[in-house]
Amino acid sequence: MRPVQIGLLGLGTVGEGTARVLFKNAEEIARRAGREINIAHCCSRNQSLAAELSLTNVLTDDPFAVVNNPDIDIVVELFGGDEPARELVITALNNGKHVVTANKALIALHGNEIFKAAQEHGVTVGFEAGVAGGIPIIKTLREGLAANTIEWLAGIINGTANFILTEMREKGSDFSSVLKQAQELGYAEADPTFDVEGIDAAHKLTILASIAFGIPLQFEKVSITGITGITPQDIEYANELGYRFKHLGIAKRTDKGLELRVHPTLIPKKRLIAHVNGVMNAVVIKGDAVGSTLHYGAGAGSLATASSVVADLVDITRALTTDSENRVPHLAFQPDALSDLPIVAEDEVASAFYLRLRATDESGVLAKITGALADRDISIEAFLQKEPVQVGDDVDIIVLTNKIQQQQIKAAIAELSGLDVITEDITCFHVEMFND
Ligand code: HSE
Repeated sequence: MRPVQIGLLGLGTVGEGTARVLFKNAEEIARRAGREINIAHCCSRNQSLAAELSLTNVLTDDPFAVVNNPDIDIVVELFGGDEPARELVITALNNGKHVVTANKALIALHGNEIFKAAQEHGVTVGFEAGVAGGIPIIKTLREGLAANTIEWLAGIINGTANFILTEMREKGSDFSSVLKQAQELGYAEADPTFDVEGIDAAHKLTILASIAFGIPLQFEKVSITGITGITPQDIEYANELGYRFKHLGIAKRTDKGLELRVHPTLIPKKRLIAHVNGVMNAVVIKGDAVGSTLHYGAGAGSLATASSVVADLVDITRALTTDSENRVPHLAFQPDALSDLPIVAEDEVASAFYLRLRATDESGVLAKITGALADRDISIEAFLQKEPVQVGDDVDIIVLTNKIQQQQIKAAIAELSGLDVITEDITCFHVEMFND
């Protein structure tokens, strides 16, 4: 049978990995797909890498030449970012080509438009590589867990942020040196603020939530907090109380609708996900039939992410001869069966909270703090106070609350901040027990 002809856009970290996996495992891949998968056109300005990968003969610096090439069956978009990626993908789909992409921002922001175009043209868009690198989490949610009503999912879905938090905890390293290391290792986004401010994780959560709950992609409804507010002291205090900091994306079905949130979270050390370290990713999915499942693996990196790109290529190749109506739907649910589950407002999200208060060291301080919390019906679940380094220094007071609404803790923080004994801004993070 004629080989499937691939047009590869980009030879960056993932593009290079994809070419290397396709060459190295060509025989195994063809045995699985039923035919060979051949890179027939490649767009990159990196001529020396293209030569090393024996792609010089099919090299171009014009990406539109690739998406308009009539010989190409599947376009693999690995440029990343918004434009020209969006226009290239839409052009490829309009030309009747299938598309595989690792571009989570593209899917999170433009996926509704992209899937509509794909449906109109009877072609498929694969985006497994966009979420959690090498973990086949899209396939798991879309197919393996198709029997379940999903109750919640929670994931460490940004390798760079997890790498930074791990290095800060294990080695006491400072934030910026670890970020530089992650960039050098090819984990970080082109704009690393996307990693540390939670934007990248929110792109991925948007996609996971859509597939888990059968809702349209709604990036703008995700509440997002990055990891830049976590200090080494917070990491140490959490440790003393039996918790680890993880940067989580959480999507949870509640009576009020769906919670969609990305934020630093204290997790009890006894939970498996608390032990996911470095660039590794993990996603816990709670289904009503299956219970909790944990999916773990490399969340970033050249070959790991290429593993997902090539898996999509194999899937599409296998399905080339099937009727497009009978393929697995892009967002797991049939396009006309997506629901408009409301998204819960940030203030109404419920969780336990960690508070760090800097206060003067004098009698009555604790009474004022606990009194303000008690007045708002906030219960203290755990408590830690360190003695001052020197007599007269201020002290850190750490409080873990019971599960309350975010608006309750915000109001309490506003009141506590007004107390004359509180000397710095109050730090607040979510705590999740994952015991339901
Ligand atoms: N910058 C991303 C991360 C790469 O660190 O997880 C994979 O999407």
